[in-house]
Amino acid sequence: MKVLVVGGAGYIGSHTVRLLQKEGHQPIILDNLCAGHEEAARRLKVPFEKGDLGDIPRVKGVLADHRPEVVMHFAAFALVGESVTQPKKYYHNNVVSTLNLLDAMNDAGIKKFIFSSTCATYGNPQRPALDETHPQKPINPYGWSKWMVEQILRDYDRAYEMKHVALRYFNAAGGSPDGLIGEDHDPETHLIPVALQAVIGKRPGVTVFGTDYDTPDGTCVRDYIHVDDLAKAHILAIEHLNGGGESKMLNCGTGKGHSVKEVLDTVERVTGRKLNVTYGPRREGDPPVLVAVADQIRTLFGWKPQYTELEPIVRTAWTWFEKGGTYRPS
Ligand SMILES: NC(=O)c1ccc[n+]([C@@H]2O[C@H](COP(=O)([O-])OP(=O)(O)OC[C@H]3O[C@@H](n4cnc5c(N)ncnc54)[C@H](O)[C@@H]3O)[C@@H](O)[C@H]2O)c1
Repeated sequence: MKVLVVGGAGYIGSHTVRLLQKEGHQPIILDNLCAGHEEAARRLKVPFEKGDLGDIPRVKGVLADHRPEVVMHFAAFALVGESVTQPKKYYHNNVVSTLNLLDAMNDAGIKKFIFSSTCATYGNPQRPALDETHPQKPINPYGWSKWMVEQILRDYDRAYEMKHVALRYFNAAGGSPDGLIGEDHDPETHLIPVALQAVIGKRPGVTVFGTDYDTPDGTCVRDYIHVDDLAKAHILAIEHLNGGGESKMLNCGTGKGHSVKEVLDTVERVTGRKLNVTYGPRREGDPPVLVAVADQIRTLFGWKPQYTELEPIVRTAWTWFEKGGTYRPS
């Protein structure tokens, strides 16, 4: 099946492109490279179209040239703090550009859409069980931008029969086990790559934000989901829509939480190196615990994460960082 992967030169998109290829699909990447890497597309040997979602004629042209049956949409800005100081940037890229894409798809008669949503649409958890029925009250423009797209998707389904699967990711982590592709953000804000950058001497150390949370060791707890398990959820989403399945918004996480301290201990164990750790105050807007209840996707898609322990996830990230942890020439 032909699948247009918007944002496919980025972290999660590129891993999904790789799995699409492995499973016999024909992915095509559309990416403006604001955060992605053409080198990822080159390594995966997939058709690559450089283009911005804000450029409507370009988006229409790519759809007309390739005639994909499904569009996967990973392209967005995703720095929570930046979204607070620059909301315009976030609403334009994450909402307006997504509308451009949906309208171009609708005009071209393409009716299957798979969207990267986020647990940030829930905001601060009001109860421990973070399932899909948990109230959605985002606490920053990034979360709101994804929430807005979710609302648009419901309306586009109702009015234009555009079917969607929106996957609410928890914390994506890890990389390809062979180290061909991996996570390369600049700036990097995710804990595992930040710690691994410290291990390879790319930063002086790691800061832990808050040690007095109401969690077993006082540090924040998150649900780390391997990027290949996320990729698999996307493939299953295609199968769901192809089988005539209804539009769905589904959590995508392991259901298991790990604290910041646990992650750092695991990084030290996997790499065999000691980290320089600084303990700082809490960061505003960090909920103590974010762990998915992901029963729906398991039942509906038969999805099951292959990586259920933290250590193998960190090991795949380490494979990438041992090779430098970047596509950029040093
Ligand atoms: N990484 C996570 O843990 C996580 C968690 C929840 C949700 N998400 C969501 O998943 C998606 C992918 O995340 P990621 O970590 O792979 O991000 P990423 O920055 O690595 O990838 C995004 C890609 O989109 C491209 N892009 C951005 N704006 C574009 C535009 N206007 N036109 C064309 N291309 C554009 C970038 O160049 C980049 O290659 C994002 O939508 C993000 O909000 C990520």
